[in-house]
Amino acid sequence: MNEYKDIINIYDANIKEEKDYEKLIKFFGVKEIDDIILNNLKYITGDLHVLLRRKFFYAHRDFDILLNKYNEGKRFFLYTGRAPSKSKMHIGHLIPFLLTKWFQEKFNVNVYIQIPDEEKYWEKKADNYEEIREYALEDAKTIASLGFDPDKTFIFIDSEYIKNMYKAAIYVAREINLNTAKSVFGFDDNSTIGLPFYIALQIVPTFFERNIPLIPCGIDQDPYFRLQRDIAEKFGYYKASTILSKFVWGLQGPYTKMSASDPKSAIFIDDDYDTIRYKIFKYAFSGGRGTLEEHRKYGGNPDIDVSYFWLSVLFEEDDNKLKEIREKYIMGELTTGELKEYTAKKIWEFLSNIQERRKNINIDKFMYDGRLAREMWEWEFRI
Ligand code: TRP
Repeated sequence: MNEYKDIINIYDANIKEEKDYEKLIKFFGVKEIDDIILNNLKYITGDLHVLLRRKFFYAHRDFDILLNKYNEGKRFFLYTGRAPSKSKMHIGHLIPFLLTKWFQEKFNVNVYIQIPDEEKYWEKKADNYEEIREYALEDAKTIASLGFDPDKTFIFIDSEYIKNMYKAAIYVAREINLNTAKSVFGFDDNSTIGLPFYIALQIVPTFFERNIPLIPCGIDQDPYFRLQRDIAEKFGYYKASTILSKFVWGLQGPYTKMSASDPKSAIFIDDDYDTIRYKIFKYAFSGGRGTLEEHRKYGGNPDIDVSYFWLSVLFEEDDNKLKEIREKYIMGELTTGELKEYTAKKIWEFLSNIQERRKNINIDKFMYDGRLAREMWEWEFRI
């Protein structure tokens, strides 16, 4: 029954092949994001974000229902988050936020971004709480730099905003017993007692509005919102709808982790061009052949190539161009060096924009005095 915890649990995701993603759909009881849903969405939005088009967000809960309700005039809001630790954000961490930003742009709705500074500390994935709090603010700035609307986006750090959240957490915590929490998350006897309570804290923001919460996140986050769905209506709120992504690969190869604590595996948001290029050339696993001669003769394999992976997930938005790269690589016309050079350039184009915007970001607007932020510092949970 609990077999999925071998693939995913509260501490770790262990995807080894594409099949594991199909298994997760079954274990979690979620649905695939298929062309019907994408077409319905595109009918409203005009186009589709590359992360949807390439189906990196591949599963959902009730997103079809949300779209139907939207067409009938019902509103929704966006919610996602990032647990800070003692390391910088890397390109994989951007994924849920980029899709969230796109939804905000298309639907002009409110966005809530939780920065749970207690989560990693309680998980014992970080040891110095004071340090985490500093990183929390840095992460908030990075996230805000993705272009969210400062009057419709509220970014909050749990330890600061807890006074407003606590009443809702009291209600939520009473509804979830330890047995359920264990079977959904796979806590063990060494888990701290903070973690089961944290479940309540991650659910609370789904009650910030009496509209449908739409949550773009990694599929590992789904268990929180499965529990939310069991209790939301009791309090007079809506069940959360989730859009769930796969995990990105680290530089070491297919299905390896991009880990912020291993700079050889990750490209950070604040890396400069030379660093990006160096890491790609030195560490990015390649599907190319051992020698140029062999490569020209037999061609490369894009499906195990980390540079190609990143182009296809996010950095090459042009479908035709991606197809051309794929074909030329398979034919051996495009070399590994050329593919890496191109990938480094595309990633830099993307990150340099974010770095530029970050220099001038006014984070106070998102956290304290933008329109939504001001409203939220007055917010109180009511059932
Ligand atoms: N638990 C998430 C993490 O480990 C952070 C998070 C908080 C989150 N609230 C969320 C993620 C809502 C998705 C949706 O990074």
